[in-house]
Amino acid sequence: MGVYHILGGRPLQGRIRVQKSKNAVLPMIAAALLCEEKIVLKGCPFISDVCDMVEILQNLGAEVWWEDSDLCLECRKIEKDTVEGALAEKMRSSVLFLGSLLGRKKRAVVHAPGGCTIGKRPTDLHQMAMTQLGAGVEEKNCEICAETKQLKGNLIVFPRVSVGATENAILAGTLARGVTVLENCAREPEILHLCRFLNQMGAKIEGAGTSEIVIRGVQRLEGCTFCVPSDRIAAGTYLMAGAATRGRIILEDAPVDEMGAVLDVYEKMGGQYAVIGGTLVTESRNVHLAVPYLETSGYPGFPTDLQSLYLAVAVTLEGGSRIRETIFEDRMRTAWELKKMGAKVTIEGQEIRTETSKLLGADVTSTDLRGGAALAIAALGAEGITTVHKIHLIERGYEQFPRTLSALGGRILVEKEAID
Ligand code: UD1
Repeated sequence: MGVYHILGGRPLQGRIRVQKSKNAVLPMIAAALLCEEKIVLKGCPFISDVCDMVEILQNLGAEVWWEDSDLCLECRKIEKDTVEGALAEKMRSSVLFLGSLLGRKKRAVVHAPGGCTIGKRPTDLHQMAMTQLGAGVEEKNCEICAETKQLKGNLIVFPRVSVGATENAILAGTLARGVTVLENCAREPEILHLCRFLNQMGAKIEGAGTSEIVIRGVQRLEGCTFCVPSDRIAAGTYLMAGAATRGRIILEDAPVDEMGAVLDVYEKMGGQYAVIGGTLVTESRNVHLAVPYLETSGYPGFPTDLQSLYLAVAVTLEGGSRIRETIFEDRMRTAWELKKMGAKVTIEGQEIRTETSKLLGADVTSTDLRGGAALAIAALGAEGITTVHKIHLIERGYEQFPRTLSALGGRILVEKEAID
């Protein structure tokens, strides 16, 4: 628990290495259940979401240990098939054990998942995929119970695009008998990374990164060592931190190829950048102009996870911005917190409108992981001291967040014992 006290007003400058991807590694931890041999995830981020996912795996019977920054997983003996409430409620990704437990144990009982409060977040698409792969699925008393004699490949046409449901269907399809064809899949890079990881273990998956994925079921997977890719959302967060403070940040290991929509917005705001090898050099001195209209969408569109980060910058820019959130129906709460800092924003349904504002230090509260990071970044650009409460939400996904911002010259004090 605890709070951050942030003294704003100084441009962030310096060089940092982008952390490895939270959203890529969480499904890989669930996927480990499909393999009885040792798996090493090299450069795994040390964040609380990873620790919570690992706790679920250990509770099911896996051996898990760290070797420096490498996460080692061995799922030789998996005795349980139930993910209990106290563990599942900690995070949304716990629902991914539905597909991998079904693949491994032919039975899965997963308590309704938790995660950020950004909308209703139902699991109907996950359940639909399991049913179509031959499992009997029932939801009762906040638990999803699924069972099968043998998962069988099938054609699954998703009525709506979902990252998590696509991942769950891939996990269940990997060891299913026959061919599974997934249509209207999410195309996020994290899905491509998951499929590369599974293929390295011997799975036969084609088409990841497109809206049609074909999985030829195999009987078993072999152990492997896999390098966790860089985090495009963390990279986008630090890009926006540079923009909010009109600074100059160099991002090593930035996954630039996955950041097209974000870099487009950055350029429209007046930001300048160059890519040298795997390094993204950014210059935000001339950031001044709000993007008139921005809407979130699935990849390769502008990511919903960076909507509140852009908002934190947009409120300080010339001209107004209309920001439309199209993925999650309740992801506008950070705008209310920014108002406490003097942001002129109006919220109507799924849309936020901004006007040029001067941000001043205030007491604000993180309402979700990315929103919390947005408040910290707004604070770094604001005049005076801001206290950000509920920082445990931020630390679910950002590795060494205060230390990284301090390395860039940000003045941020962590008060661990404070009542948040
Ligand atoms: C993942 C990411 C999250 C990101 C989101 C969208 C991880 C750990 N999380 O979340 O950071 O913001 O993708 O890019 O990778 N939906 C249904 N029924 C379902 C499943 C989803 O209606 O069964 C809806 C959701 O409520 C939401 C939309 O579909 O409105 C998209 O959600 P989804 O793509 O599933 O997001 P997550 O996988 O939860």
